[in-house]
Amino acid sequence: MKDMKNTVTKSKSKNDTTQGLRNLFVAQLKDIYWAEKALTKAIPKMIKNVTSAELNKALTSHLKQTEEQVTRLEDLFSTIGKKAIEKKSDAMAGLIKEAKRIIKENKRGIVRDAGIILAGQKVEHYEIATYGTLLSFAKTLGENEAVALLEKSLNEEKSSNEKLSQIAVASINKDATEENKKADEFQPERKEKRKELSEIEY
Ligand SMILES: [Fe+2]
Repeated sequence: MKDMKNTVTKSKSKNDTTQGLRNLFVAQLKDIYWAEKALTKAIPKMIKNVTSAELNKALTSHLKQTEEQVTRLEDLFSTIGKKAIEKKSDAMAGLIKEAKRIIKENKRGIVRDAGIILAGQKVEHYEIATYGTLLSFAKTLGENEAVALLEKSLNEEKSSNEKLSQIAVASINKDATEENKKADEFQPERKEKRKELSEIEY
């Protein structure tokens, strides 16, 4: 009798855990749904403010992907029998606010471009963390259709993040170094100072 009671209690707590995980899954879907929608409005503002043609191209293509990710999330809600509802993501709202501040505080050019990449990569990392976790929740909950949809968006965010890294390394940071070199020709003490700083280990 005691064993049976234990089994019932264990299975009840397992059910509670599954339900709790499902609730968390849905809540986070609403969060990323709000975030993606907000990004469809924020990315065009970032595009308007970049000077690098390559960065412009990468952001434009990611804007298109973001619009598709919004639709994909709507499909996902329908596969789990839920209405697509947004819930404000405070984290994404903060990241978008930071992007706007970077644009405001840096004049048009290489440095603003580098700041936009920084802001874009913070956004990508948030999305990678969210989609990655949602993917593992979907696997645990046996939501196979959701798994496939989440995997797709996760891979897009990862490649978009890599693309931003490549642009930063290949062009923008290089251009900033070129500008530094030019300035060094007129102010040799700057070069010495930078050399000292580069020798410090962080
Ligand atoms: Fe996205």
